[in-house]
Amino acid sequence: FGYRQNIFSSTSLPYDDEQQGLDDQITIHFSHVVAENTPKGMAAEKFAQLVEEKSNGRVIVKIYPNGMLYNDETELEALQANEIQMIAPTFSKLTASLPNWQVLDLPFIIDNNEQLKTVLNGSLSDKLLQELDNIEIKGLTFWNNGFKQVASTSPILNVEDFNEKRVRMMPSNILKQQFKLLGADPIPTSFGNVYYDLQNKHIDAQENTISNIYSKRFYTMENHITLSNHGILCYAVMMNESFWNSLDENTQTIIIESLKEIQDWQFDQAQLMNEKDLNDLKQMNNVKIYELQESDRNQWKKKIKPIYEIYENQVNKQYLHELLQELN
Ligand code: LMR
Repeated sequence: FGYRQNIFSSTSLPYDDEQQGLDDQITIHFSHVVAENTPKGMAAEKFAQLVEEKSNGRVIVKIYPNGMLYNDETELEALQANEIQMIAPTFSKLTASLPNWQVLDLPFIIDNNEQLKTVLNGSLSDKLLQELDNIEIKGLTFWNNGFKQVASTSPILNVEDFNEKRVRMMPSNILKQQFKLLGADPIPTSFGNVYYDLQNKHIDAQENTISNIYSKRFYTMENHITLSNHGILCYAVMMNESFWNSLDENTQTIIIESLKEIQDWQFDQAQLMNEKDLNDLKQMNNVKIYELQESDRNQWKKKIKPIYEIYENQVNKQYLHELLQELN
């Protein structure tokens, strides 16, 4: 069974086969779609480093960034087929299989980092991770990438500015409803296609975190960025379930402890990277950054309001209630 791999055939790895038995070696292939210099990219690297250290090189985490193996339309299936053992998609990308997860896509509920931290560490998040069992995936934890902003080829401030804008969205019905309510034309596209779609003028705008807009150079085309903080973008860190079950207890403990050890660092790092990237963008002459004024924000909220009823009536009233309770 391909879980345990003989990595000693590779001369580039700094391990000595006399130190460890070949049979003990475990390789975890971890695929993700963003750049290395992002909150997810950095967390994956730190996690790999810790796991290798704690296991004295017995467990290797090989990272494949930038969607080089799978894009976000194919990585979930590849995980289920155990072609890769670990991924950390945005929770929006799980909503087709697990509609309840859309609760975290609801805009204008989580307002600040303190609240975000509470939610990511709270009991609703635990419940969501447990739901992954239903699709034979082992949910491990959540990683942070902070708040979404709006990046566009022309300014979007007033709610009317959304009219007829082709806005790229991640596949999630709630996100689709959000953009429809705002008057835009939502277009689902995988992250790996966004740059191409912008170049070819298939889309005019998107919502994303600053670190994603910066690291993928979307700002070279979407050079009007509105700091709206209207929604959150975080990651569910997960493993193929039968792979997880095949691991010995010691290895499972190493994985859990490594994730725990980086949890707070990861949260803060996401904030810092988004701040640093925003400062860099502010220095660029051709990039315009706008704060969303309170009056405009209220207009966006007013238009979006029916979305909470859509989630309550069509998805899961209880989950929305629990989310609001956690924020009280
Ligand atoms: C996106 O598709 O915009 C994001 O989910 C990418 C990511 O993984 O941060």
